[in-house]
Amino acid sequence: MDQLPSHEPDAAPAPAAQGPFPSPGTDREWWRHAVVYQIYPRSFADSDGDGIGDLPGILSRVPYLADLGVDAVWLSPFYPSALADGGYDVDDHRNVDPRLGTLDDVDALVAALGEHGIRLVIDIVPNHSSNRHVWFQEALASPPGSAARDRYIFRDGKGVDGAEPPADWASGFGGLMWERVPDGQWYLHCHAAEQPDLNWDNPEVHDDFVSTLRFWADRGVAGFRIDVAHLLAKDLSDPLPSDAEMARMPPGVHPLIDRDEVHEIYARWRTVFDEYDPPLTAVGEAWVEPERRSRYASRTGLGQAFNFDLLTANWSAPEFREVIDRNLRQAAETGSSSTWVLSNHDVVRHATRYGLPQGTPGCSQEGKEWLRTHGASPVLDRELGVRRARAATLLLLALPGSTYLYQGEELGLHEVPDLPEDARQDPTYLRTGGADPGRDGCRVPLPWTASGPAFGFSDGGAHLPQPSWFGASSVESQEGDDDSTLALYRRALSTRRNVRAGEDLRWRAARDEVLHIERAGGWHCLTTFEATAELPPGRVLLSSAPLAHEERMVPPNTTVWTLERP
Ligand code: NOJ
Repeated sequence: MDQLPSHEPDAAPAPAAQGPFPSPGTDREWWRHAVVYQIYPRSFADSDGDGIGDLPGILSRVPYLADLGVDAVWLSPFYPSALADGGYDVDDHRNVDPRLGTLDDVDALVAALGEHGIRLVIDIVPNHSSNRHVWFQEALASPPGSAARDRYIFRDGKGVDGAEPPADWASGFGGLMWERVPDGQWYLHCHAAEQPDLNWDNPEVHDDFVSTLRFWADRGVAGFRIDVAHLLAKDLSDPLPSDAEMARMPPGVHPLIDRDEVHEIYARWRTVFDEYDPPLTAVGEAWVEPERRSRYASRTGLGQAFNFDLLTANWSAPEFREVIDRNLRQAAETGSSSTWVLSNHDVVRHATRYGLPQGTPGCSQEGKEWLRTHGASPVLDRELGVRRARAATLLLLALPGSTYLYQGEELGLHEVPDLPEDARQDPTYLRTGGADPGRDGCRVPLPWTASGPAFGFSDGGAHLPQPSWFGASSVESQEGDDDSTLALYRRALSTRRNVRAGEDLRWRAARDEVLHIERAGGWHCLTTFEATAELPPGRVLLSSAPLAHEERMVPPNTTVWTLERP
């Protein structure tokens, strides 16, 4: 069949429908429509051959990020850490892990990104520190009831000699949420035992975090991603409920999750953010009921909150439509802008999720378990997964709001589900004895070259082993191939930047298995799920899969962008 390439060579960038976005340096509200690229630094690029990615490695890849066309980089934790939880166990919130670089490297990265108009957003981890943090070491060396212990959440145990934990709360990371210290007291840790929870009722904790925010903002960081933003405020007044009672408690009443008081913390942070020009941005990682998310995204709070709804949605038109409608409505209500996310360092890569049998959401325990046992089986349709992933990305990039990309998705990279047991690092795997497959499979270091040591990630090895099939997905293998996923992302980002469409969105009549939206200026985006559909009006700007010339039909599992000329 005569086929059009997945783009028209002369079609991108499209003529601006309403003029290009303001240049990154002058747009105070840049975050509303930004494409933000997440870097998990230990797995991005390694400059010194120790197998762990580092800041100079990222610095060497700034031209790659500029070519990709992203507006900002979100850097996952790069702080000193024993890596009990991939860096989310922070020893010192105002320093750099020596294995990753120095504070000077952060400055150099801010400057190098800035030369390309790319902003740096960093991860802040305020719910907990590591157990090696100087505060926690002081707490351990100080007696019960001391000021040093009050920075964390220490309690006496129950039963004879306080040998039982204060409550039977189970951690989502496996095991209990309480750990006993040598003098008999217990401390709370919602995650791993190496991550003691801080006490946000203590003003010293507030003040210290404000200093941390200022420390990084003064170095040129543009904003923050707030780790587990919904957990900071807690009510640990006696009697503590049992785990079963707690599970039945609604938001706002639950002693640990999504308490209303948490917004007082963010209101104070907002006054700090607004002292800067342009104001600092923040996006909350808040795993809360969708209707409670908008409070985190309010103008007096963080300003933006992650919408994770597509992480658990199936590849289905009605499910996508519901998620899109709900999130656009919420964004309009709060004056925020939506965030679109298909992958991150905590979930199964979406190219893989979309290749699983329908109805197996890869992020669920069931889906992850399925992957672990069937990862190499032909039931996982790798090609279909990538095809749908490409279509999903073009759909999200056509929506009002900002889009968060996770490193490697621009290569159509798949999850590595079958890592050897002894290579696994994730505490969710280690603390559950393997019952939870963990998140290492989406954190395997990126392949830059088709062959060679660590596929160009490092001159040494890779801290998580890369499978042999990684080479075919490498940057080198895709460079120069117009139909590659990398080429599609580059074209999509540059086209999107040039087709300014405001916050509007109009649904066009569509069938069950097809979504068709129109943005101002005649920009159409049509996605087929398990059906074919007629091409929208206008000329084709971009298509996630080849289109048949003569038929003007869009095949299944495809997104196409067209532009109607005025
Ligand atoms: C959320 C982070 O995304 C995840 O990777 C981490 O394990 C937990 N928060 C604890 O910090």
